[in-house]
Amino acid sequence: MTTPPDARALARLLALARRARAAAYCPYSGFAVGAAVLGASGRWFSGANVENASYGLTVCAERVAVLTAVARGERALLALAVVTSSDPPAAPCGACRQVLWEFWHPLGREWPTVVPGAPSGPPSRSLSLAALLPDAFGPATLA
Ligand code: THU
Repeated sequence: MTTPPDARALARLLALARRARAAAYCPYSGFAVGAAVLGASGRWFSGANVENASYGLTVCAERVAVLTAVARGERALLALAVVTSSDPPAAPCGACRQVLWEFWHPLGREWPTVVPGAPSGPPSRSLSLAALLPDAFGPATLA
């Protein structure tokens, strides 16, 4: 049975996102972001934002983490942590919410396992993907 990741797992995810943030390539915005995901296989993946001189080609940290997971065969994500220096800590952007939905475990949509975090300290909140993307357009829409 698939169960929600516990507080310990979410804390580990946050630590991975913080570590990943150190590799952010963000010379244009100066806004470093780190992200990490936990897959149903039990594997962990992370990423950082990667900007480009052609600004629109920038890829968010969340999508780097998700696409890395998918490219390794992961298809059902259970949790995500994202770390920024925003106050309050920023939740994923709209594009990333859509990409997360595609690969989120269907049983986990209402779980509060999207964790925005600051560079240090405990997370102030956790959110569900369903709350972040109501009335989502997804694979089921096309079925
Ligand atoms: N960014 C992310 O990595 N994740 C988000 O959810 C929002 C924005 C990045 C993109 C860009 O490199 C910088 O933050 C400023 O927008």
